[in-house]
This record gives sequence, structure tokens and C-alpha cells, in this order.
Amino acid sequence: MKIGLLYSRKRVEEKMITAALDNRGVPYDRFDPRQLTFELNGSGPADYDAFLVRCLSHTNAYYITRWLESLGIPTVSPHRTISVCGDKFLTSVALQEAGLPIPRTAAAFTVESSLDAVEEMGYPVVLKPLFGSWGRLLARVNDRDAAEALLEHKSTLGGYLHGVSYIQEYVDKPGRDIRAMVAGDEVIYAIYRHSEHWITNTALGGKPLPCPVTDEIRHLAVGAAKAVGGGIVAVDLLERAGAEMLVNEVNHTPEFHGAREATDVDIADRIVDYVLQVAETGSAT
Ligand SMILES: Nc1ncnc2c1ncn2[C@@H]1O[C@H](COP(=O)(O)OP(=O)(O)O)[C@@H](O)[C@H]1O
Ligand SMILES: [Mg+2]
Repeated sequence: MKIGLLYSRKRVEEKMITAALDNRGVPYDRFDPRQLTFELNGSGPADYDAFLVRCLSHTNAYYITRWLESLGIPTVSPHRTISVCGDKFLTSVALQEAGLPIPRTAAAFTVESSLDAVEEMGYPVVLKPLFGSWGRLLARVNDRDAAEALLEHKSTLGGYLHGVSYIQEYVDKPGRDIRAMVAGDEVIYAIYRHSEHWITNTALGGKPLPCPVTDEIRHLAVGAAKAVGGGIVAVDLLERAGAEMLVNEVNHTPEFHGAREATDVDIADRIVDYVLQVAETGSAT
């Protein structure tokens, strides 16, 4: 049994994962995407039973997982999960197809059609870039003046990233959202992320607090993970007073150092458990 571990920068998470591998005596080699070249001739890293992908770069993870899968090596997470989660629109479609509750979501390509979609949905709306994380470039738009200005700026200043408007109803959540990490069929942990700001990411100061894994959270989080292709993912859930919980988005290669203050779970150890399970069964979905 041998594991491949793929990462460029060794963040807190990768330190915890390598420590967990060392503690358990699991043989592994580290690969740095910045040094990797791969010719498509059917050969590649031999004798690995699974790869754990912890690249900071979505693009690196996207291509390397596809290459490894072509060599018959399962990756955590699988290529499909990386490709779906890398795009908020593709994620929303997959969630909706799986019958999971999501916020009203629309897409449009021009300033005019985007404005139509925004007005149709009604204010406030949230505009997000299709790619990205840590709450970057999210905008809550409260009225038509703001919508016009934002869409014009995106269209004039933005590049490819801003060519598609991803528009969502604003969900009036109770000063927090829920993040649940899933590995395979199981929720590893859930936390609340409290914030005075409507964007609750811990990267922006959202405070992690313990959150019990209810049946509803388990159902939505595991369902969302399956819908995007499985593996290890972090699912963002939004509560809404007096109504059902919604699935906001699914993240591949999640960070989890912030969560440690709100859960006793040994997250890195649970990740290693799952990777070993994939290595044994040969499948990460
Ligand atoms: N439609 C929405 N309604 C209310 N809050 C939202 C909505 N979308 C995002 N948020 C808030 O912004 C945060 C970041 O949004 P998210 O879609 O997860 O983007 P990112 O990939 O940057 O984390 C969420 O965790 C949540 O707190
Ligand atoms: Mg998020």
C-alpha cells in the first residue's frame, strides 16, 4: 500500500495530513505539481494505490486528477468532483439535478440580460464569480443602481471570469452558515460560521462554532457530495427562518485549520482513513 500526496505549498492542513500519515506508518510520497511533467504515453507514477490531491491551484488539480485516473489510479477527490466544484454554475446544476434544495440561481451573459435576471429575481441578490473562494468578489446588490454599476464594471473591467453572471437570491440567514466536511458517505464534522458580515467565510473573519450533525445536515451534505462526484468535500449550507435548509456550494480541497477550534474531531486522521479506504477499494466515488 502506497499513497501519493500532491501539493505545492505545505499549509497547516498538509502538515496535519503528513503528520497523520506518519503517525499511522502509512507509506507515501509527496509530489509537487510545479515540478511535475506528464507525457501521455500510458506511463506515470507506478505502485500507488491512491492519490490525495491537496493542490492550491484548481487548474493543477483539474488536469493532474484526469491524468492519474487515465493511469487507473483513484484520486481523492475524483476528477469529476474537482471539475464540478471548480465552477459554481456546474455545482448548482449538479445539486439541482440531484433534487437538493438550492437558493434560486440564474445565469446570463450580457449586462442587459443579467439586469433582466436580477430584476426578475428581486432585490437583494448576490452576484458571484463562477470560480474562486474565500468569499472573493462576492457582491450583495440591493437595488437597480448598484446592479447597473456592478454589471457595467464587470463587463468593462473584467476578463473571462466576469463573462458570465451568476446571480442568486439573497438568503436571509441567521448571522451564520454551516460548513460540513464529507468523506465518502460520512460527515466528518460540521461547524457554524458566525459573522456580523453577510459573508461568513472563516478566511474573512467568520467565527467557527460547534454545530451538531443533524439528520438534515447529514442528508444534505452527503447528498451534495455525491451529486458533484464524491470524495472529500466541504459543503456550505444556508439556514432560512421557518423554511428548509439550502445547499449553497461544494468545495473540493477544503481548508480546515479554522474548524479545529470548534470540533474535537481529528480531521486529518479521518481524511487519512478515507484515503486508505479508497486505496483498498480502488474507487473514490
Ligand atoms: N445567496 C446567498 N445568500 C446569503 N448569503 C450568501 C449567499 N451566497 C453566499 N453567501 C455568504 O457568502 C459566503 C461565501 O459564499 P460562497 O458561495 O460559499 O463563495 P466562496 O466560494 O467564496 O466561499 C457564504 O458562506 C455565505 O455566508
Ligand atoms: Mg464557500
